[in-house]
Amino acid sequence: MLASIPSASLLGVEGHPIDVEVHVGAGLPGVTVVGLPDTSCRESRDRAKAAFGSVGHRWPPQKVTVNLAPSGMRKNGGALDLAMAVGVLVASGGLPADAVAGLGFLGQLGLDGAIRRFPGVVPLVDAMQTTGVVVPTECAREAALVGRHVVRPVAHLQELLAALRGDEPWPVPPDPLPRSDRRHELDLADVRGHPVARLALEVAAAGAHHLLLVGPPGSGKTMLARRLVGLLPDLDQAGALEATRAHSAAGVALPADGLVRRPPLRAPHHSASLVSLVGGGTSLLRPGEASLAHAGVLFLDELAEFKADALDALRQPLEEGVVRVSRARAAVSYPARFLLVGAMNPCPCGEGRSGACRCSDGARARYARRLSGPLLDRFDLRLDVARPDAGDLLSGARGESSADVA
Ligand SMILES: Nc1ncnc2c1ncn2[C@@H]1O[C@H](COP(=O)(O)OP(=O)(O)OP(=O)(O)O)[C@@H](O)[C@H]1O
Ligand SMILES: [Mg+2]
Ligand SMILES: [Zn+2]
Repeated sequence: MLASIPSASLLGVEGHPIDVEVHVGAGLPGVTVVGLPDTSCRESRDRAKAAFGSVGHRWPPQKVTVNLAPSGMRKNGGALDLAMAVGVLVASGGLPADAVAGLGFLGQLGLDGAIRRFPGVVPLVDAMQTTGVVVPTECAREAALVGRHVVRPVAHLQELLAALRGDEPWPVPPDPLPRSDRRHELDLADVRGHPVARLALEVAAAGAHHLLLVGPPGSGKTMLARRLVGLLPDLDQAGALEATRAHSAAGVALPADGLVRRPPLRAPHHSASLVSLVGGGTSLLRPGEASLAHAGVLFLDELAEFKADALDALRQPLEEGVVRVSRARAAVSYPARFLLVGAMNPCPCGEGRSGACRCSDGARARYARRLSGPLLDRFDLRLDVARPDAGDLLSGARGESSADVA
């Protein structure tokens, strides 16, 4: 018998609808998965098989063929387990086909039959064209953000079967969490003095200008840069969904209410690889820091210490607002429109000013070469940050707060 179960697979930060077609019929017992599955899809097969045992169901002792349609696209099995298990149940006569009508299935299976969360809930649910979507209970709130489906949360395969057979009612979705407006962001009020730097932050925030801070150690570059994001306004609904999609696809923890409403601040360490910075990777095409910073701030502290190839790779997103990654079977683009903030010392010893600087000419020249001109050209504003006056630091007067400035 044949069953076709709607599900979805992630390509970059976008979900694509997939039909999991399952045929159970005569032939040597075994499972074949076709339709460009990646290795994680084969694991789906093994997990589905093990989970069957846990709910007291016999895996059909027949030839099981799973086809993932459309066949042209490389599939990632992150959320396909559940559709595969349900498909085998329907195709082997364990569930009537009308029990699953109008439903799509997204979920990873544990060997014990537990239905577990997977990366990319928002984009995957968004790709589903069914009225109802069955998701792991842990993901139900995220799934509800899309707002177009009846969300059916389940925690275990047993629970799912009971609901599909009509033995038990569907579990009730959890209440949406109250929207948390509290800003956890650092406040400009902590910064003493630095009137010029404050103005520069304001200008950068208002005009979306990339900002480079140059100054000696301890002058407050890191402190100032981390406070820029607090001056940006809340994201609009479209921006919030885009940012949430990128976070969701990368498997990064979302805020309590599930939606990224504040512009994100990402500050990757200077040892970050090209892939972690711009995204990509061999099998799973994941978004990188540049996309996680979409609609927010990408802060590169100690800019001169970053790997040259990683910095070079940022030039494309800086120009186009997207990262494009292509592989033999797939080309994806991730949104990556961010405000770039860099911080660096003026020279290797950090002092910069003639007289104070202890660097050799050679060392200074090597340092300058570390940053390719084209990247430096991307900064619209360059701010020389001097150590604040001892007087300002000691005065105890707090500066104007971020809320007042924004
Ligand atoms: N204007 C300021 N107001 C209050 N505290 C300050 C100010 N400037 C510096 N500080 C204090 O000095 C510390 C060092 O500042 P910060 O780390 O921002 O300097 P930096 O310029 O990034 O230095 P480095 O080049 O070593 O990274 C901060 O933790 C902060 O407590
Ligand atoms: Mg610093
Ligand atoms: Zn120096």
